[in-house]
Amino acid sequence: MKGIILAGGTGTRLLPLTAITSKQLLPVYDRPMIFYPLDTLIKAGIRDILIIVSPEHSGNFLNLLGSMFQKFGVNLSFVVQKSPRGLAEAYVLAEDFLDGQPSVLVLGDNLFEDDFTEAIQSFKQGGRIFAKQVPDPQRFGVVEFGSDYKVLSIEEKPEQPKGTFAIPGVYIFDSEAVKVAKSLIPSARGELEITDLQKYYLEKQTLDVRVITGAWFDMGTHESLFAAGSFAREKELGKQAHPMINDAIAEFNAEFKKIVSLKK
Ligand code: G1P
Repeated sequence: MKGIILAGGTGTRLLPLTAITSKQLLPVYDRPMIFYPLDTLIKAGIRDILIIVSPEHSGNFLNLLGSMFQKFGVNLSFVVQKSPRGLAEAYVLAEDFLDGQPSVLVLGDNLFEDDFTEAIQSFKQGGRIFAKQVPDPQRFGVVEFGSDYKVLSIEEKPEQPKGTFAIPGVYIFDSEAVKVAKSLIPSARGELEITDLQKYYLEKQTLDVRVITGAWFDMGTHESLFAAGSFAREKELGKQAHPMINDAIAEFNAEFKKIVSLKK
């Protein structure tokens, strides 16, 4: 199983914070945002991870993460997304990296309280996505459930949502996702929609949707970024990160300080 973190995009809703750096490198309490999706993947045992970045900020990602995990056996690869054409484009950009393997895609701006390890490790084939009850489902992909949580429909940001379950940014798909993503037609807003990929698996009756109950933040606005930072501080999420992540950060900091003192 391979991992993908989508960390491209322009982050315009967070301006001016995103004028000079990437949204996914902004601080969420004591660490840059990207460490939360990284933690989700590393906790699940994934050691081969592709980070999709925008051209403007690719250097920053490389400076921070380029060699941070090398000696920990985590292989990080990077690919540049020239212009954002929708979340499903991640699978098109990841084709060579995936090399016919199944994958977990985590959105670089999503933070979760839930642990996805079991859901990732028990995945066999088809697709597995998640559903979280929210007060404002029209802002997200929405899954409609019938009795016994049977999935009836999936819609991207519907004006009249059929229910209150949003689809958060963790997607597990088998190797078919690449082929399907390549065949998608851009939506009215000009994007390759991740919900269209989900619908493909739903129609094939190979889509599994699991309800999550822990807190979820999509950190795309000032309000949600601030709330996520407070949550991370209050719940001490940093301490709960995989030890490898905290060791890698500690070593990075020590090295950084050494270089700074040598320059003096
Ligand atoms: C995207 C997806 C949407 C999903 C959401 C989760 O929306 O298109 O289906 O529910 O991420 O954060 P975006 O935030 O890119 O508008």
